[in-house]
Amino acid sequence: MPLKTLSQMDLRGKRVLTRVDLNVPMVGGKVADATRIEKIVPTIKEIITKGGTPILLAHMGRPKGERNQKLSLSQLQEELETYLGSKVIFVAECIGPSAETALEIVKNGEIILLENTRFYPEEEENDPKFAASLAALADLFCNDAFSASHRAHASTTGLAKYLPSCAGKLMEAELKALESVLGQPKRPVATLVGGAKISTKIALLENLIEKVDFIIIGGAMANTFLFSKGFNVGRSLVEESLKSTALKILNKAEKYSCKVILPTDLIIAKELSKNTSTSVVSADECPENYMILDAGPSSVVNIKKCIDSAKTLLWNGPLGAFEVPPFDQATSQAAKFASEKTEKGDLISVAGGGDTFAALNKAGVTDTFTYVSTAGGAFLEWLEGKELPGVLYLTKK
Ligand code: 3PG
Repeated sequence: MPLKTLSQMDLRGKRVLTRVDLNVPMVGGKVADATRIEKIVPTIKEIITKGGTPILLAHMGRPKGERNQKLSLSQLQEELETYLGSKVIFVAECIGPSAETALEIVKNGEIILLENTRFYPEEEENDPKFAASLAALADLFCNDAFSASHRAHASTTGLAKYLPSCAGKLMEAELKALESVLGQPKRPVATLVGGAKISTKIALLENLIEKVDFIIIGGAMANTFLFSKGFNVGRSLVEESLKSTALKILNKAEKYSCKVILPTDLIIAKELSKNTSTSVVSADECPENYMILDAGPSSVVNIKKCIDSAKTLLWNGPLGAFEVPPFDQATSQAAKFASEKTEKGDLISVAGGGDTFAALNKAGVTDTFTYVSTAGGAFLEWLEGKELPGVLYLTKK
């Protein structure tokens, strides 16, 4: 997909409103995981190196149009300075006199950080006046927040009406990775879809079935499929009301010659806790008082075989209750296998959405996969085949 990119823009002397995703996890006012900050470094550095001034625009949490100090971006100023190696001037507003003053005092090589865009109700309303006031601060708009681009907000979409717009380097990387798995992928394409609920992934499964060769289903989602086949799932997490939906998905897969790989054996326990005793049973043998908490060893062998036969792998969601060991084993073993194949140059592996980054990070493979996105909802909506409002205007017509 031809994109308008940052590298095509003349940045000398330009003020660049740069939409980034700084929605990072915070614990006690400190950044608990700085991955999203690390990922915006190349864009900000390029703007500075080419003589521009980055003005960062971002949200944190869902303050619903009200000021909330716990969600103030001022908490990120120090961390941003460390990662970006430049002075960051924080402005407690997004528009108005204090933002204008910051523009007067900012020196070459420095960065302006505006307050949480979601402190303004106009942000989520995509209010044109608010977007125009933001735009008045700058010469260019760079969207580097793929992970927020499923939202049609003033800072992700509205601004594009008022300023020349381009994709930042992270946005470019995200779109390139997604294009490599769903645009014109090397076949066969295998997809691994895990996570808790099929209800949140129906549209995604329906779309993928038409495009990929294999779908490996894991996590508690797989329980609903096993249940739909009439298997006993004991006390496992299951969406009984979606029995017919699961069967419909399996039928559709057959129609499109997309092979669905369900667990053939299971790791079960009486409770989800670290030191609990576990057993392996076949997929149709979960006793009444047990819960399915991970895929079993034969399932992992099947999953590896499937990944081995693929040239492209798209990974979304964990295979088991990965947060609580030993129920991280299937996820970890399959991820390591995919990572080794990727390192040998035999596989293009792209992952993202929801818990995926955390699960693969735990397995230690985020650096060896071809691409691991930190995007949650945006990644899922892309997989559902939706056009993202924050991406549409970046495509060259
Ligand atoms: C995310 O964390 O996925 C993005 O920052 C989007 O956040 P939102 O779901 O609150 O819009």
